[in-house]
Amino acid sequence: MSTSKDLLSISDIADRLPALLQNAARLKRSRRAGVRSTSLLGRNLAMIFEKPSTRTRTSFEVGIGDLGGHAIYLSKTDIQLGRGETIGDTARVLSRYCDGLIYRAFHHSDVVELARTASVPVINALDDLEHPCQIVADLLTMHERWNGEFRGNRVAWIGDGNNVLHSLLLGAAAMGLDLTAASPEGYAANPEIVRAAAALAAKSGSHLRFVSDPAEAATGADALYTDVWVSMGDEAQMADRTRAFQGYQINSQLLGLARPDAFVLHDLPAHRGLEITDEVLDGPRSAAWDQAENRLHAQKAILELLIPPLPAG
Ligand code: CP
Ligand code: NVA
Repeated sequence: MSTSKDLLSISDIADRLPALLQNAARLKRSRRAGVRSTSLLGRNLAMIFEKPSTRTRTSFEVGIGDLGGHAIYLSKTDIQLGRGETIGDTARVLSRYCDGLIYRAFHHSDVVELARTASVPVINALDDLEHPCQIVADLLTMHERWNGEFRGNRVAWIGDGNNVLHSLLLGAAAMGLDLTAASPEGYAANPEIVRAAAALAAKSGSHLRFVSDPAEAATGADALYTDVWVSMGDEAQMADRTRAFQGYQINSQLLGLARPDAFVLHDLPAHRGLEITDEVLDGPRSAAWDQAENRLHAQKAILELLIPPLPAG
């Protein structure tokens, strides 16, 4: 069983994912029944954000509050990190006050550095390589729709070989879920992530495939998943990317190639009319809103996994 103090990559929790999903499902049921846990009572968590966020920030803040803890939002530009204080010095100081650090960064290496120098758990809230918290919520969404069974199902990724795909590849491979990714030439997934996912897939039996034709990926799929063509930090490539991704859109025609009961995932925010149409995102087969809600339940399960309750008394 892996025991990393941190969640920097889905690889850190690959063998703990089944239990994590069970706990997320339990926390969802409890919240709906009006029952709150107090597992973070007395705990303080700092949330450092270098990029904007609607879902990740709010679901963490609400989730920490639900569990009786206290969240402190720190925009990078409001703290000394933005004026050149090192990540290491920031980590050492915040570790003296806080029981965990949540970090949304441009560079994965910065998240690794924060985790190396912090004595408390660090959670990756998205960087240029991975978005692990998103994928825990996505797996919860699939778990609900497939009654807990990942094996024998296949998700088709339509779009960029980006941070979300990287975490999805690792998560699918860990859970025995098949995945076909369709990306344009030059925008394929990172080869190191593909190797790590292939190693997990060899153990779980999941089939990972990489193609360039969206129709090939979508045909017979049990779920279609897409994300923006231009991620935060890639804005300078907007024109090239907009050209390269023409045709990589989830629309009714592409959805028509999937299985009749297939559903559609999008981590959001969506660029309506680009990677997904209004008709699909707002349609009956869209799982995107459940997916967004599940960020909350997933964050709470992640926090309970990494931060033990304080002893009573
Ligand atoms: N999906 C996601 O991480 O959304 P935010 O950027 O709004 O946090
Ligand atoms: N790939 C996107 C995900 C946003 C939640 C980005 O990094 O901007």
